[in-house]
Parts: sequence; C-alpha cells; structure tokens
Amino acid sequence: MTRVQATVWISSVMRSVSRQAHKLLMTICVLAPLMTATADPWARDSASADHVLAESLVQLGQRLFFDTDLSINRTQSCASCHDPARAFTDTRPNRVSAAASLGADGKSLGDRNAPSLTYAAYAPSLQEIEPGIHAGGQFWDGRADNLQQQASSPLYNPAEMALPDTSALRIRLMEKEFYQQAFSRLFSDDVFDKPDILDAAFASAIVAFQRTDLFSTFDSRYDRYLRGEIQPTLQESIGMGLFFNNGFANCSHCHQLNSLPNSAGETFSNYRYENIGLPVNRQLRESNDKGVDYVDPGFMQQGRFKVPGLRNVAVTSPYMHNGIFRELRTVLLFYNKFNTSGGTSQVNPETNEPWGEPEVDGHRDMVKLNAGVPLSTRHMDAIEAFLRMLTDQRYEHLLP
Ligand code: HEC
Ligand code: HEC
Repeated sequence: MTRVQATVWISSVMRSVSRQAHKLLMTICVLAPLMTATADPWARDSASADHVLAESLVQLGQRLFFDTDLSINRTQSCASCHDPARAFTDTRPNRVSAAASLGADGKSLGDRNAPSLTYAAYAPSLQEIEPGIHAGGQFWDGRADNLQQQASSPLYNPAEMALPDTSALRIRLMEKEFYQQAFSRLFSDDVFDKPDILDAAFASAIVAFQRTDLFSTFDSRYDRYLRGEIQPTLQESIGMGLFFNNGFANCSHCHQLNSLPNSAGETFSNYRYENIGLPVNRQLRESNDKGVDYVDPGFMQQGRFKVPGLRNVAVTSPYMHNGIFRELRTVLLFYNKFNTSGGTSQVNPETNEPWGEPEVDGHRDMVKLNAGVPLSTRHMDAIEAFLRMLTDQRYEHLLP
C-alpha cells in the first residue's frame, strides 16, 4: 500500500471509527466506575486507557504507527511490518519469503514471523490463570505483559527500527510541530523534558490506535453468520463442527477463549503457551545471524509459544512463530501427523521430507496433541473452509 492509498483508506475507516469511538467514550464514562470495581482479569487489555482523551490519542497513535521517521534511517514504520492492507502482517518479499522481517537497515533479519495485529488488543494481560499455567500477553513468547509494554520496543530493537534510545525518540518527535502540540496537549507541557515519560506516552497513543475497530472489525462471514446475516455453506458448517469438537479435530482445545463454541467476539485463542513440536526453520536460521545451533527458548525457556488467534489466518501466510509453513493445508497435515501413521502422513508436503525433530523436545502437551482423530482430506477441506470464513470482509479479496 502506498502512503496515499493508506491515507485514503485510513481516513475512510477512521470516519466510522471516530463515530464508534464517540459511542465507546460515552459508554466508558457511564461504565468506568463499575469496570474498576469488578476488575475482570479477562477484560480487554486497557493498560493505557486515558479514556477522556481517547479520540485524539487515536489520531496521534495513527500518525505514529505510519511514521517512517521513527526508525534510524527513516525507512521503516510499524506499518512496514504490519501492513493494514495485508491484515497488519509483513508480506514484503525477502530472502526467506517473509518468514521473518527485515529491519530498517535492510539487512538484519529477525527470527520470528510478524503476527497480524488484527484483534491483538483482545489478548488479555499476561497472568497466571492456574498454578504454573500462564495466559495472555504480547509477542510469541509473552515477553510483554500487554500492548502498553509492547508498543515502543520495536523502536529500539536493532533488528527493527533501531533507534539508540528514548532520547533519540525525543529528537525525532520534536522535529514535527504536530507531535509537539499533540503530546503537550494530551499529556503535559513538560512531557518532552522526560524521555521515559515521552516513551510511555508514545506507547499510550499507539495502544489507543490499536484498540480501535480499525484493527478488529468482527465482520467476517463467521460473524455475519452468528448475526444471522448469511447462511454458511454445508462445507463451512461441517468444518465449524469439526473445529469445535474436542473429541474430533480438537482445535478448540487451544483455539477457543470462551467457554461455549460459537460465542460472538471469539478470537480463537486461549492465549496459553504450548509447545506443539515445530522443527527449526533451517532456511531462516541459515539466512539470519542466529546460526544453525541457536534454539529459540520461547516462553519460560520451554519452547512454548502463544496460541495465536485464527482470525484472518487464511490471508496471513506464512504460519507459526518461525514462519515455517506456507499453506494452511500443511498446518492441518502437521496436526494430523500426531494421530495418523503410514502413507505420507509423516512427510511435510512443502519439502517432501519428514516433518523433522521438534526444536525443543520437552514440554509438549502430547495429551492435547494426540486427542484428535485422524482427519481425512474431506475433513481438512471442511476445516480449511471454516478457517477461510474467519477473514474480515475487507481482506476477502486476498483469499487464495
Ligand atoms: C521489522 C519488522 C517490525 C516492525 C518495524 C514492527 N514490528 Fe511488531 N512485530 C514484528 C515481529 C517479527 C513480531 C513478533 C516478534 C516476537 O513475538 O518475538 C512483532 C510483534 C508485534 C506485536 C505482538 C502481537 C502478538 O500477537 O503477540 C505487536 C502488538 C506489535 N508487533 C506492534 C508493533 C508496533 C506498534 C510497531 C511500531 C512501533 C511494530 N510492531 C513494529 C515485526 C515488526
Ligand atoms: C495443544 C494446543 C493446540 C491445538 C490442539 C491446536 N493448536 Fe493450532 N496452534 C497452537 C500453537 C501453540 C500454535 C503456534 C505454535 C508455534 O508457532 O510455535 C498454533 C498455530 C496454529 C496455526 C498458525 C497460525 C499462525 O498465524 O501462524 C493455525 C492455522 C492453527 N494453529 C490451526 C489449528 C487447527 C485447525 C487445529 C485443529 C486441527 C489446531 N490448530 C489445534 C496450539 C494448538
């Protein structure tokens, strides 16, 4: 998407967002005392919410999200790796087919796949939900508790936007009259005197933007079906049934947040951390500076990664934390290998080689991985049809 296209597209969406933001603002004013009293830990991440200023914070956050001047050589913004035209993922071609992202320097290559930011605001903050079991948080390994903690880290990551420190951020923001005015008005007159406070203010604005409906439209065929607006095809209905059946495909064991299937607002992740035994992405490791012996520790050094939400998954290839699979069908065949033997079940169709040893062998929840039954081609066709149904309306044209 060019900058001009992005501006036109964003401003049309923002018109409807700001109407909704106004409604939201009114609701929040009424509900705010109740919300703090009940303090539901599964309530939406609201770490930064200065609700009174929500509307302008959103505009500031939007401007920051698209500003390439916030990277060391002025070439990269958040949107470079989280392109709104592609469900906020990184599809720029590179030497590892977008399995990981290139940094602002055009050379540094990360080691993980850029997740879609659609619905990311719905991940709860990281917490221990049962003794020893964690859920929520941001990043594949949950190293940020919530969006607020995540937001400015890409600015300083040497393999991403590569600013040296918060003082450098301050200098870049001071360059623009718009920022000088907006930050002073929305935060305090002396916000520019304290780079750490400015950094937190930057995060608040980015979070406010990410929490708008622009990122979470809930208008996929699945949502429209739940609202009674469309009839699913027979294949989609079968796929839905298989997906939510824990005695069958068993996907909802991990990819379901609400206690009941088919709940409105489902984001298709319980936000827990699991090791599903993915092999190393060798092509990626040979191309970045990690080296072939590097092991990604994941969450708590256990090779676990956050269960990703599945909205827009059909348009956000490649898949998994290391971008190892290109096709949704390969993902399904990978899960099927745990419950099938013989034939080609133990072969990755993308490489025509065996699936490969898990990068981290321990800590796999084999009970859950073995809980499904063998899936036939028809079952997989149906599950895939269901996953395609989770595509937001504005991305339907990207469906392969
Ligand atoms: C160079 C590419 C790149 C840039 C630039 C970038 N990101 Fe990311 N982003 C990634 C990658 C890769 C990950 C996954 C990293 C991980 O989990 O360790 C990620 C993860 C995230 C996540 C966590 C999502 C989740 O579901 O866990 C959020 C939120 C996010 N980025 C927001 C931003 C914001 C805001 C900016 C700008 C300040 C930004 N990103 C800039 C590549 C990028
Ligand atoms: C044991 C919990 C568990 C079960 C059961 C499970 N998944 Fe997953 N799923 C995960 C985790 C964890 C990841 C991310 C793994 C990683 O990157 O290391 C994932 C990743 C995915 C991805 C890739 C998403 C992306 O954006 O990269 C898809 C698609 C997917 N799962 C679909 C399914 C389907 C369909 C089923 C049922 C056949 C299923 N999953 C069953 C835990 C599970």
